[in-house]
Amino acid sequence: MQELKIRGGRLLKGRIHVSGAKNAALPALAACILVDDITVLHNMPDVRDVTSMCQLLESLGASVNRYGDAIHVDTRGMTQWHAPHDLVRKMRASVLVMGPLIARFGRAEVALPGGCTIGNRPIDLHINALRQMGAEPTLIKGEEHIICERLIGARIHFDRPTVTGTENVLMAATAAEGETVLENAAREPEVADLAHLLVAMGAQIEGIGTDTIRVSGGRTLHGADHSIISDRIEAGTYAIAAAMTGGDIVLESIDSLMLTSLWAKMTHAGVSIREKASGDICVSGCPPFAPVHITTAEYPGFPTDLQAQFMAMMCLAKGESVITENIFEDRFKHASELNRMGADIVIRGRNAFVKGIPYLSGAAVTASDLRASASLVIAGLAARDETRVLRIYHLDRGYERIDEKLACLGADIKRVAGEGP
Ligand code: UD1
Repeated sequence: MQELKIRGGRLLKGRIHVSGAKNAALPALAACILVDDITVLHNMPDVRDVTSMCQLLESLGASVNRYGDAIHVDTRGMTQWHAPHDLVRKMRASVLVMGPLIARFGRAEVALPGGCTIGNRPIDLHINALRQMGAEPTLIKGEEHIICERLIGARIHFDRPTVTGTENVLMAATAAEGETVLENAAREPEVADLAHLLVAMGAQIEGIGTDTIRVSGGRTLHGADHSIISDRIEAGTYAIAAAMTGGDIVLESIDSLMLTSLWAKMTHAGVSIREKASGDICVSGCPPFAPVHITTAEYPGFPTDLQAQFMAMMCLAKGESVITENIFEDRFKHASELNRMGADIVIRGRNAFVKGIPYLSGAAVTASDLRASASLVIAGLAARDETRVLRIYHLDRGYERIDEKLACLGADIKRVAGEGP
């Protein structure tokens, strides 16, 4: 198993190109199932979750080819609606094929994604919404078997905003008879990006980017050419890393508006964030930071996917910060690993109390999920001595060549073969 060896204390400096958003790429690939045609997706990140989704599409009968950052998906003649368990269990987002399969074939058999290290992540909101549209789900041996003779437009009110739930229903709604209204829908930019792709495929959708989305369904969709948005979480991760090392970086090709909540908190902490006329974003700062409280929330609130990285940064604040996790129930596993690097973090329920310390010390730490891994990497970049981040396969699920990108900015970071299986 590979690990990262990091010698901390090097300032990050330079320009960094932000990759396409993993969380926009995955629903875009799933949306290709809706058409009997070729779809070309640009700006697709080369990360493991995207590869897994491509394999899932291939197992369903699609032909998928990558040319640089473009992925061509040919779904002509697809006949399969069974998403096998060994592919689905690799990645929770596989559940995104459910809506498109029902739309195209009137049925879907998708294994339940199962547990997850950041807490119980049910799909009841997806299932209930599809049921309201006429689908009949039955749970058979851990798989949702869904049959739907006719998808019918409905008024769907989500009890809470769900990103992949909104995306699943949005895709199904394009094939439903009549109008579907999604209320309390997720407003994440990745949901809006999917809606733009669906419009390019011929769908009629209003309210894109708002919490009320209206879809006039029943049109036959066709292939499209679409460039997905950049990864705001990757951009935020590098911004925090730069500030933690006392560095100065320029983020290229990212829409600054998508990160307003992060910029506000980083500015409070004392980091300088400047947007140039060219659209580049300059980030510079250094510890000690002012302590800042954050509460994760749905977009446009502070993203849960940046909570772990921000916690690493608050370890080097002068004073105590409180970090409240409101989206996932068990997303503080990185705290105990940060404590092994000398941090002083106490967890009580949904709150993490982070007392700032003057410096972090290198240690061997184990990553438990994708964003937790990122927080340990950036803590290692700022720490004294050597940090080994173990189990980095999580990182490769969502960050494109993170070690190479950080090395280009001046980090002393190496990917090495580690011990163990
Ligand atoms: C997506 C993102 C993930 C991000 C998360 C929150 C993708 C591929 N993944 O995950 O990176 O951390 O949004 O921004 O886009 N819930 C239910 N029932 C459901 C669905 C969700 O109770 O049927 C709950 C979840 O347990 C969680 C909350 O709703 O507490 C939000 O989850 P959701 O937005 O659905 O997250 P994902 O779409 O899985």
